[in-house]
Amino acid sequence: MKILTIIGARPQFIKASMVSRSLHKKGIHEILLHTGQHYDENMSNVFFNEMEIPKPNYNLGVGSGSHGEQTAKSLEGIEKVIMKEKPDLVLVYGDTNATVAGALASSKLHIPIAHVEAGLRSYNRRMPEEINRVLTDVISSYLFCPTKLAVKNLKKEGITDGVFLTGDVMVDSLLHFTKLAETEATIMKKLNITSKNYGLMTIHRPANADDREIMFKLIDVLNQSPIPLIFPIHPRTRKLLSEFDFESHKTIQPINPVGYLDMLILEKYAQVILTDSGGIQKEAYLQKVPCITLRPETEWIETVEDGWNTIVNEEYGRLLELIKSPPIPKKWISHYGEGNAAGKITDILLS
Ligand code: UD1
Ligand code: UDP
Repeated sequence: MKILTIIGARPQFIKASMVSRSLHKKGIHEILLHTGQHYDENMSNVFFNEMEIPKPNYNLGVGSGSHGEQTAKSLEGIEKVIMKEKPDLVLVYGDTNATVAGALASSKLHIPIAHVEAGLRSYNRRMPEEINRVLTDVISSYLFCPTKLAVKNLKKEGITDGVFLTGDVMVDSLLHFTKLAETEATIMKKLNITSKNYGLMTIHRPANADDREIMFKLIDVLNQSPIPLIFPIHPRTRKLLSEFDFESHKTIQPINPVGYLDMLILEKYAQVILTDSGGIQKEAYLQKVPCITLRPETEWIETVEDGWNTIVNEEYGRLLELIKSPPIPKKWISHYGEGNAAGKITDILLS
């Protein structure tokens, strides 16, 4: 069997790493295509190196641009590779422009699509990711769902064929790399921080990161945080914040985006995590760290229902109290599986 895997952005490298390993172990021929959507050393290469992801067979180098431009360039490049490689199946991950481009290119060439992280919904169609997910799910033949809720969401849309509850591949990555992170990561020393004495924050959603008013309001409040906040800044967010004077406050400590091993450690030992990232909300839950989600809603509803994740949208006044005493519930359920999602996906594809 020959599989063409499409990846392009940071979370997809992390999601693909364990599936890729599993495919190789079972002797499946995988061709890896990187659209090049993320290209900075610390947004792309670092993950390939740390997680031993094979070097992509193709890099389309699409880079940054508007949604139309980025998706169109990816679509065109992926189509060419599919025609040349003639894979039996195309594997796509998550909800980025690479995901929808891969799915569209394959469906028009009648190549079956497998979607890892199918069925997720925010029900907010102003999010580019929501459009990407809905479109990808509709044309996928194999829909690998991380949660029971994802299966239910698909059912509501009339999608039941080819739907499999596999658990979340991000659990596989987290479990596999935590031990290595504990021995290899140097970030705590480098930043001179100790366990549970700091918060971790990330922001990159366009609804926050592209809105000057929201960002400056948020940063003003967070600069009064009772604990230091380590802030690995996504390049989208860096553009808007380049004029912000972090030096004169010192509470928020901006740093460059970090590799996966450093990130796992920063998450694990944080007192609280503030984020608008999908993956980081889930990793916070998996590492039993309270999370504050800076968005109007989340796809990872289980984390909110169990009390580990608090949604804060614009009522930023609440943030300081939440940082000081974040809720630490007793309830914790392995909603995202036990860490064998990649194996299940491989077995389903083989059968
Ligand atoms: C993309 C995904 C989003 C995902 C996020 C993960 C889409 C629609 N969005 O958003 O779902 O959560 O990745 O991080 O696919 N930039 C750099 N260097 C890079 C990459 C980006 O400087 O290596 C800058 C560019 O100025 C670019 C901006 O960041 O315009 C945004 O990058 P882009 O890939 O368009 O979207 P993300 O916000 O990263
Ligand atoms: N991540 C990382 N370094 C960082 C920020 C995030 O390794 O500086 C990892 C994080 O641990 C998670 C993934 O990137 O596994 C989440 O990606 P991101 O927040 O970019 O996108 P989203 O999950 O929101 O699509």
